[in-house]
Amino acid sequence: MKIDVIVGLQWGDEGKGKIVDYLATDYDMVCRFQGGPNAGHTLKFDGKKFVLHTIPSGIFRANLLNLIGNGVVIDPITLEQEIIELQTTGLTFLDRLFVAHKAHLILPTHRLLDAASEASKGAAKIGSTLRGIGPTYMDKTGRNGLRVGDVFAPDFKSRYQTLKEKHLNLAAMYPEIDFNLAAEETKWFASLECLRRLQHVDGEYFVNQALDAGKRLLAEGAQGSMLDIDFGTYPFVTSSNTITAGLCTGLGVAPKRVGKVIGITKAYCTRVGSGPFPSELYGEEGEALRKAGNEFGATTGRPRRCGWIDLPQLKYTIMLNGVDELALTKIDVLNTFASIKAATHYHLDGKDTDSVPFEMVENIPLVYREFPGWEADTDACLQRQDLPQALQDYLYFLEEVLETPIKYISTGPERQKLIVTP
Ligand code: GDP
Ligand code: IMO
Ligand code: MG
Repeated sequence: MKIDVIVGLQWGDEGKGKIVDYLATDYDMVCRFQGGPNAGHTLKFDGKKFVLHTIPSGIFRANLLNLIGNGVVIDPITLEQEIIELQTTGLTFLDRLFVAHKAHLILPTHRLLDAASEASKGAAKIGSTLRGIGPTYMDKTGRNGLRVGDVFAPDFKSRYQTLKEKHLNLAAMYPEIDFNLAAEETKWFASLECLRRLQHVDGEYFVNQALDAGKRLLAEGAQGSMLDIDFGTYPFVTSSNTITAGLCTGLGVAPKRVGKVIGITKAYCTRVGSGPFPSELYGEEGEALRKAGNEFGATTGRPRRCGWIDLPQLKYTIMLNGVDELALTKIDVLNTFASIKAATHYHLDGKDTDSVPFEMVENIPLVYREFPGWEADTDACLQRQDLPQALQDYLYFLEEVLETPIKYISTGPERQKLIVTP
């Protein structure tokens, strides 16, 4: 068997949680392969809402296994909180949740360094979620990190102390910030007990043996391709490979075992944090999208920046990920707009281009195509042909330009609000 994957094609928050939760019933296991508690994946069903940060979005589906892969960075404190919150709903899942030995740990001092680094950058800050993601991946590639499998080692505490001392020396270079390290360390060590009790596996064997046994696996991406460490709007990116390729290293799966790639995009575009966003709308227009889409971060609560869909950007990330099928989310957010726009080209060096430039600076002049809005409710639409004609025309236009079929059309945050095209 091959492993299918769902990836965000924009700057994150495309609705990955909702789509993974919906599709999970077709699979035996859902695996997170990168990122950490910077992610906030929202699921809505039975009138309830859940935001998952580290636990895969297949967790609510009975009998489905969920793996936190080696490419993920884990903060034991947030993981324990998430587990407790899920348990209070009456859900039993600990027998279905697995953690890879090789996943790296976020220490309290990683969060301290994240905050201190951001404070030192002033106006040039990344707009990090301050969950310690960047410093943890730095220690991973710098070969200093601590991993899940280390928590049983007799010298774990002394290795922790060595790393903490290194962090404190580094922190001395930055402006002082308000951080109660002693309190955070106490919480961290207490939460390690929860982490130790979880089912730890050699993720790479776990995944490959499941594929060999004919199990159906789905990999759940976090963040979005424009936040990818290599191909995103560097340096305003996250610190992992968010694209399809990330699943090979983040789970230990060979490229030839990657199956279907599902790319998710909103019907418009958002970004949270700093960095270039060519199609961003300011003032009333941006506010209208933010309000209609309730665009506030699932992890930090920050207002998301909003703009029109950016087709050169999407062509780029469809290429990088090898997308087979698109999921278009939040189409209902545009239901009240009299006209809809899509950026078709960037105007660079006197020419229109549909390629993304090396430096995606602010204020790239964009060429837009305008479409009449459908100004109708989509709630009752169960099939693509039920959708208003203007919306159907818009979907065909997107498929033609992006050269990729739109397989899923999401018409609301709830689980069942999804049109699946045959
Ligand atoms: P993720 O990080 O990609 O999982 O996305 P988030 O959960 O951070 O953000 C997506 C937001 O949009 C959440 O509040 C979802 O409940 C919501 N959402 C998902 N799909 C739809 C949709 O089709 N319509 C509307 N109105 N909201 C949606
Ligand atoms: P999901 O999985 C949207 C953004 C941050 C910041 C940059 C770096 O919910 O789509 P980091 O904390 O990773 O060092 O922050 O990346 N960012 C996200 N934006 N959705 C996310 O995850 C994000 N995870 C990180 O806002 O600009
Ligand atoms: Mg999110």
